[in-house]
Amino acid sequence: MKALVFGGPGQRSWDNVDDPGIGEPTDVIVKVETTTICGTDLHILKGDVPAVTEGRILGHEAVGTVVETGAAVSSLKKGDRVLVPAITSCGRCGPCKAGMAAHCEAVGGIGWIFGHLIDGVQAEYARVPYAETSVHAVPEGIADEQVLFLADILPTGYEIGVQNGGVGPGDTVAVVGAGPVGLAAIMTGAIAGASRIIAVDLAESRLRHAEACGATHTVVAGDDAEERIAQITGGEGVDVAIEAVGIPATFDLCTRIVKAGGTVANVGGHGAPTTLHLEELWIKNITITTGLVSGSTVPTLLQLVRDGRIEAEKLGTHRFPLDDIMEAYDVFAAADENDALKVVLTA
Ligand SMILES: NC(=O)c1ccc[n+]([C@@H]2O[C@H](COP(=O)([O-])OP(=O)(O)OC[C@H]3O[C@@H](n4cnc5c(N)ncnc54)[C@H](O)[C@@H]3O)[C@@H](O)[C@H]2O)c1
Ligand SMILES: [Zn+2]
Ligand SMILES: [Zn+2]
Repeated sequence: MKALVFGGPGQRSWDNVDDPGIGEPTDVIVKVETTTICGTDLHILKGDVPAVTEGRILGHEAVGTVVETGAAVSSLKKGDRVLVPAITSCGRCGPCKAGMAAHCEAVGGIGWIFGHLIDGVQAEYARVPYAETSVHAVPEGIADEQVLFLADILPTGYEIGVQNGGVGPGDTVAVVGAGPVGLAAIMTGAIAGASRIIAVDLAESRLRHAEACGATHTVVAGDDAEERIAQITGGEGVDVAIEAVGIPATFDLCTRIVKAGGTVANVGGHGAPTTLHLEELWIKNITITTGLVSGSTVPTLLQLVRDGRIEAEKLGTHRFPLDDIMEAYDVFAAADENDALKVVLTA
């Protein structure tokens, strides 16, 4: 089969590789019909994720059809259409039972294994471990593109941004960073009942996408962002500030715009230490949350897509045949230039 193979920092190729086979009785093999590329794949290509070794097939988001099942698999069969999420869940360990498959012990303490610790789904076929407790049936009549982004960014924005932030009806929410993850937090924040959603980003184009996803206000990131948000909130600050960039400046902004008693929900992946200004924050009664997505909300999100309450396909801005994945990577890597959010690759 063909697959997108990591060849070490800066190296990727669309190569001929061996077809995957059933390894464990709980595995299934999925024929990948639709997949996408994540910002994390770009980090891997820069050499930022040393656990990913040369020869690894990348990708952790897919929709496809089951073509083979392991001996222990009884609730999935050949021909089933499934969403393969970024996070694998054994369904039995302590973290999985607590709804925190992000830290599944059976797969090594981190649920993100596709395109990381095992071969991923940017390929014609993929081996899917712990399939019965990991994959989701795609509702009848729903297209691949409508559910593809439920593999990673939608549950990330919802679980780590909106749920951790405790967003509820009437809340004023700021989402700092309107990339695919921030936009997912905006979409799901609206569903959770936020009445004002302030999107903050450096790029005007991202702010336009934020409005299309449900932001009620937009603020261009810069020196006066704090003041602009103070104006919008009548000087009060926001109930929930969601950080979806992953740098010290944006985390710091979130701690300055959150109101007394509010929550800062960090979603961004940080690569550098950040100063926490406890000399100002100790008196504010705020909560700070962090987390890696678990995918526990995927069933809920699937229902919201099925019933037309979330249009997740809006986040797909570019389409390619799977065979053109090399070009798709180029377009996604230059997302700003191309006004790209997510690319959709179809076999
Ligand atoms: N916690 C999790 O489980 C999890 C899962 C997936 C991704 N992430 C993280 O979420 C973050 C966002 O992911 P993404 O794919 O949307 O990334 P992205 O790079 O596409 O988007 C980031 C956005 O932030 C904006 N930005 C950059 N600097 C800014 C600044 N100073 N002020 C305001 N906006 C600024 C950019 O213009 C861009 O629109 C990343 O750090 C990623 O690692 C976390
Ligand atoms: Zn991802
Ligand atoms: Zn587990």
